[in-house]
Amino acid sequence: MESVEQLLERLVTGVIRDRIGADAPAAVRPCGNPKFGDYQVNGILPIAKVEKKNPRALADLVAAAAAQPLAAIAEPPTVAGAGFINVKLKPGFVASRLPQALANPRLGVPAASPARTIVLDFSAPNVAKSMHVGHLRSTIIGDSIARTLRFLGHRVITDNHIGDWGTQFGFLVHGFKQEKLDLASATDPIAEMERVYRKYYGASEADPSIREAAKAELVKLHADDSENLALWKKLRDLSMPAFERVYQRLGARFDHTLGESFYHPRLPGVVAGLKGKGLAEDSEGAVCVFFRDVPALKDKPFLIQKSDGAFLYPTTDLATLQYRVETWQPGEIIYVTDSRQKLHFQQLFETARRWGHADLKLAHVTFGSVLGEDDKPIKTRSGEPIKLGQLLDEAERRAMEIVEAQNAELPAETKREIARVVGLGAVKYADLSQNRINDYVFSWPKMLAMQGNTAPYLQYAYVRIRSIFRKGSMEHGARSMEPGAVVLADPAELDLAKFILRFPEAIELATEDYRPNFICSYLYDLACKFSAFYEQCPVLKAGEPTRASRLMLCQLTAGVLRQGLDLLGIQTIEQM
Ligand code: ARG
Repeated sequence: MESVEQLLERLVTGVIRDRIGADAPAAVRPCGNPKFGDYQVNGILPIAKVEKKNPRALADLVAAAAAQPLAAIAEPPTVAGAGFINVKLKPGFVASRLPQALANPRLGVPAASPARTIVLDFSAPNVAKSMHVGHLRSTIIGDSIARTLRFLGHRVITDNHIGDWGTQFGFLVHGFKQEKLDLASATDPIAEMERVYRKYYGASEADPSIREAAKAELVKLHADDSENLALWKKLRDLSMPAFERVYQRLGARFDHTLGESFYHPRLPGVVAGLKGKGLAEDSEGAVCVFFRDVPALKDKPFLIQKSDGAFLYPTTDLATLQYRVETWQPGEIIYVTDSRQKLHFQQLFETARRWGHADLKLAHVTFGSVLGEDDKPIKTRSGEPIKLGQLLDEAERRAMEIVEAQNAELPAETKREIARVVGLGAVKYADLSQNRINDYVFSWPKMLAMQGNTAPYLQYAYVRIRSIFRKGSMEHGARSMEPGAVVLADPAELDLAKFILRFPEAIELATEDYRPNFICSYLYDLACKFSAFYEQCPVLKAGEPTRASRLMLCQLTAGVLRQGLDLLGIQTIEQM
């Protein structure tokens, strides 16, 4: 189903082609000020510039010519400013679109065309450590992008590129050999791994022999020494259930968890291949890719093999990229990591381009830090990173306090479920509603507030609408509605109706530059518009046909809220 914006774009672009002979887009966008119209045509000024014509005169011409093709959709378009055209939708047109959105499985959001194969690389914690708050952002931003692209009909392959082959294993293997611990019987194996790592890594700073021993164990591991491999595998396998538990709680899903170790056998081939093509060269015993012709990377070579023969993070990422291309033939690969890895991905993408992957779209989706109330990256009191599992526990505990205060009489099971959905939703929404490139301050009271741009506010808006249906003894509401039966007489209901039809635009903005915060602000505005409508317009007490029409607005609002929250990985509940 074409969105309203797409429909206007198509029609006005046609007018521009026929009347001006220009092959240029109408560039229809929502109007900044609803007083002037619902949409505006921004494409006239650039055309006037190219054609060396007066923009105002061109706009007059296009506006007059567009009146007829738009007659069923909009009032006669008007010209404003230097050459913009304003379009105000007719209530009758809006009314006719609503039943279509209701009957549409995507609530009126057009399917992606063409659908593409997209590999999404996110979360990617390092094994033998617990996931901490730093992994929160990559996991939930990545999961939201995956959900949104899938919703649009793309084939999305999520791959958790866990760090299971890094230098930490030198210290771990060395440490565990010294300690002779039986890890399998430990109640918290990850805590044991962290303790051993800290102890031996810490000691190595004063005692170089430990650093040497750890390095020797790592070299043996990377040379497939069977004892070290067995120990490594045990450490890796014992780490996975804890990751799994966090993913399950967050609702994040991975199709694959190949991890760095998977690519180990391919690394020599990658280096040889790049050297063979003249893309990498020996440099002081090491092997590097140089970007002498790229100003920003001029003196920043990509190190793919050290002088001692060891391969590095870049080598693994090149092998990973090659494997993904061979295996899934994606049109795009998206990596979600914090902004400190910017240079690495610039180098990786530039190398890939030269390596023959110029047609592959590569995107690095970065984000800022989570800050504590003191504006510094958030830590526990003792200065440790906050464990993700504990953070989620606390979210649920705090949400439970609110539920107890408001709904003490509910059955314990129900209260727990509400607290889970509200607590986790609050944490995710607080993160996703920010422009991802910024740092943000983590604040429990703010994210759990029932008022303002928060998950609990949106979840409550949904609950409120669902209760209208329960009061009216209609569990599900109507599944379809006759196009002629919708009445939009009150300004508040027309305003809400138009905004419901703008869901596709929010999704488009959110996918354009991988910014889930556009979905958040849309849902918040939708909930506010619903609130205004509900204050203004009686629903169950209204006479027919107004009652059925307003019920449909309620149903569509609930449907969009639920779907929109789902794209953020946030659940809804029936009561709270
Ligand atoms: N394990 C890495 C880290 O913790 C993130 C990996 C991101 N993905 C990638 N293909 N490099 O920093």
